[in-house]
Amino acid sequence: MNKPLLLSALALVVAACAATSNLSVGDPVPYPDGYRQWAHVRSMLIEKGHPLYDSFGGMHHIYANDAACEGLERGDGAYDDGAVFVFDLLHADSAGGAVTEGARKVLGVMHRDADAFASTGGWGFAGFGGDTRDNVVKDPAQGCYQCHTGRESAGYVFSTWRK
Ligand code: HEC
Repeated sequence: MNKPLLLSALALVVAACAATSNLSVGDPVPYPDGYRQWAHVRSMLIEKGHPLYDSFGGMHHIYANDAACEGLERGDGAYDDGAVFVFDLLHADSAGGAVTEGARKVLGVMHRDADAFASTGGWGFAGFGGDTRDNVVKDPAQGCYQCHTGRESAGYVFSTWRK
């Protein structure tokens, strides 16, 4: 292989590595930079009277990056490392017969890395408070993963693919 070819082959390998998640056990869940440009999966409004109102009341939008979308569309419950889902929870403001988005409450994240997050189903769970990058979830195993185990056969993901 001549030198320019070898260099471009190396560049491809480096780019491929950068595209996948490469975390280790104990690493924090990365903040999902750019998630507002990802695919929108679904939205839901949780109002007073819902059993989860205290924790998840408000309006949330779910986003998926490319790897997460591929897993969702396949529907086999398998997700590649680097797949990320975001649960963007905002206050819901009701006035004049309309419900609109308020300030952000928390940005929930599921980041796929089968080895790094093996103890919570291969997903790293985090919640960044308000508009900060501070993870406010102290016990992701109890506070997040436990409820998501109800969806173990779907790779711990509640959302499903729709066109
Ligand atoms: C009591 C059950 C419960 C708990 C606890 C819970 N979740 Fe979820 N989670 C859900 C449900 C139900 C959905 C689907 C919501 C929808 O359909 O809009 C969901 C969706 C999500 C999604 C989008 C991907 C998916 O599965 O559809 C993310 C990201 C997420 N949750 C993160 C978290 C994080 C982070 C925590 C802990 C702070 C957490 N969840 C705790 C029930 C739970």
